[in-house]
Amino acid sequence: MVKPHGGTLVNRIATDNERDVLLKEANSLPSVTLSDWSLSDLELIANGAFSPLEGFMNQNDYLHVLKEMKLANGIVWSIPITLPVSKQISNGLEIGQDIALKGSDDVIYGILTLEEKFEYNKDVEALFIYKTLDKNHPGVRKTYEKEDVYLAGPITLLNHPLKQFNKFQYDPKNLRSLFKKRGWNTIAAFQTRNPIHRAHEYLQKTALEMTDGLLIHPLVGETKKDDIPAKLRFESYQALLEKYYPEERVQLSVYPAAMRYAGPREAIFHALVRKNYGCTHFIVGRDHAGVGDYYGTYESQEIFEQFSSDEIGIEILKFDHAFYCKICENMATAKTCPHSSDAHLHLSGTKVRSMLRKGEVPPKEFSRPEVIDVLIKGMHSDEK
Ligand code: ADX
Repeated sequence: MVKPHGGTLVNRIATDNERDVLLKEANSLPSVTLSDWSLSDLELIANGAFSPLEGFMNQNDYLHVLKEMKLANGIVWSIPITLPVSKQISNGLEIGQDIALKGSDDVIYGILTLEEKFEYNKDVEALFIYKTLDKNHPGVRKTYEKEDVYLAGPITLLNHPLKQFNKFQYDPKNLRSLFKKRGWNTIAAFQTRNPIHRAHEYLQKTALEMTDGLLIHPLVGETKKDDIPAKLRFESYQALLEKYYPEERVQLSVYPAAMRYAGPREAIFHALVRKNYGCTHFIVGRDHAGVGDYYGTYESQEIFEQFSSDEIGIEILKFDHAFYCKICENMATAKTCPHSSDAHLHLSGTKVRSMLRKGEVPPKEFSRPEVIDVLIKGMHSDEK
């Protein structure tokens, strides 16, 4: 089984006994209310998906991550995992204190032992992480909307935030034992924030030709407004898998993180996290985790060249832009198809979403009809 990032799978989930005691104590602690984004970070730190992190980052780690894509101890890490609060809230908190972490529903989800609080520069963060200050970039916009002070320190999880995907909700520990049970030694992970179309399927199945198993690991945390909602996507994944994928070699499970749209930096982050979930290979296609034209088509692949394979510890399966070729009559890439782009079927995400909204069905060479069926029905029932 592949080693977690940093060597040990972090577990910051309270045992049943600890939970009872800590919950009682937490009621009398000062509290802060977390956004859904921070709540999902809390869960992913606690269940080891973000190993080796044991809490929200301190300033030293934060600055190393920004400038070097490494934690202060030299371990590769490309995205800051931080807990923003307002100056007013921060001023009321003392270093060394335990703090109850609540959701907007007032439930206490965890406890933070406050080791440090620090202010940060949003321009610097946006430039390092997103490579732009343009507030049309959803990640940059989020950066400027965030509160001004980061709280840092180790956390303990008392309640699990996400409950709506029961059967497909495996944390790293459970997924690792499931892979073992299924007898898979090599597992390719596929990240997506979209419905699965034929190009995705091509990547996944090509990977599956080389590995024992495939983990379809859709991100179901916060995404930008015009992305298709996770619940509906999930119905479409199930419809697709039922008809077109070999059950004994494919596993579907949620990745409850928020989408950063940080392109290359997020590709590294996505890969390291999937290693923590027990995967040995990670698929990176065209413009992975990108948005608009902020990143080059293959920048998310090229960034891995800055690190040794030992530093990353999961094999990156890099794929060229894939499409359906009307002359070849199959899925292909420029590596395998000699025809000009006139013969290639191209549909942008925006175009497909607008077709679906109008109830129009994209060609079956672009997407399986079973997927489109679920999406059109879902989008129309949402509008009622
Ligand atoms: S992402 O933001 O989660 O990366 P998306 O769901 O569109 O977006 O992509 C999931 C994965 O499929 C990413 O690795 C992406 O690079 C890859 N991908 C998407 N479309 C294509 C395509 N036409 N050709 C090659 N790779 C693709």
